[in-house]
Amino acid sequence: MTEIEKPVIRPRRLRQTPALRRMVAETSVEPRQLVLPMFLREGIDAPVPIGSMPGQVQHTRDSLRKAVAEAAEAGIGGVMLFGVPETKDAVGSGAIDPEGILNVAIADAVAEVGTALTVMSDLCLDEFTDHGHCGVLDESGRIDNDRTLGLYAEMALAQAAAGVHMVGPSGMMDGQVGVIRAVLDAAERTDVSILAYGAKYASAFYGPFREAVGSTLEGDRRTYQQDPANALEGVREALLDVEQGADIVMVKPGLPYLDVLRQVKDAVDIPVAAYNISGEYAMVEAAAANGWIDREAAILETLTAFRRAGADVILTYWAVEAAGLLSR
Ligand code: PBG
Repeated sequence: MTEIEKPVIRPRRLRQTPALRRMVAETSVEPRQLVLPMFLREGIDAPVPIGSMPGQVQHTRDSLRKAVAEAAEAGIGGVMLFGVPETKDAVGSGAIDPEGILNVAIADAVAEVGTALTVMSDLCLDEFTDHGHCGVLDESGRIDNDRTLGLYAEMALAQAAAGVHMVGPSGMMDGQVGVIRAVLDAAERTDVSILAYGAKYASAFYGPFREAVGSTLEGDRRTYQQDPANALEGVREALLDVEQGADIVMVKPGLPYLDVLRQVKDAVDIPVAAYNISGEYAMVEAAAANGWIDREAAILETLTAFRRAGADVILTYWAVEAAGLLSR
């Protein structure tokens, strides 16, 4: 009798052909899971390229409408709108004005695509305040959490009136999700959902975004955004948002926080989103422009990593392009 030797365990067997690899892939990315962040700038008559985000622009009303239609055509899940106003003040009045640039962007986007795409909007004051903070300041220059909540409530109503499908409170004020849910419900806008920035960290990787929105911020946001050292706190914040009525919770930034994303995914029973932010975009674009990495491969690998870490939805500046790559 021939003696049977203990076989070598060969995981490589399942990697032999593209068909095999495709069949056993644990995760995949689909266009419907992607959301495109977009900027509408007041007072320009041609789109303005964003230097630190090659390929991205501040839109005019016209170019925004065209880009939103293109996004719907590409089959992505939604768009997240940001407004870049011409004038700012201490309390961010432009955020509440029905003619304010973000509310105009919402109305234009919805007029263009109806419900073919989920139209989302940033619900935060930083683009509208002259000091650039996400909330209003008290006499001593500190963020006034609870007075800010009142403004967020008004902002939510203005965005709902403009026709938004989903609001994205990103200011990290305590209690913001509960206040927004309550005010929308009281106005009989139970249909408007909330994508809550549950765990949002004070990050150096937001740099290019600050150019994109013409931010005037001096200093930092460390008294309201989270310390990068803390993961458990991210989970606690996400759970608070669920308790207050969030429909989706988000972790942001993305790539440096995939561990937090996984922990949040395991802790909640609602969809989880991740924001592949401006600095993450800029790093890949810059390296690719230098010929240091394969751009398209890096984009798809990035999005796959988000899915693997637990993201149901991914906000990414590559949304429309990636949808094209995925359907090739
Ligand atoms: C705040 C907001 C920021 C981003 C989205 N919403 C900037 C900040 O918190 O400083 C950053 C997005 C990105 O970097 O791509 N309204």
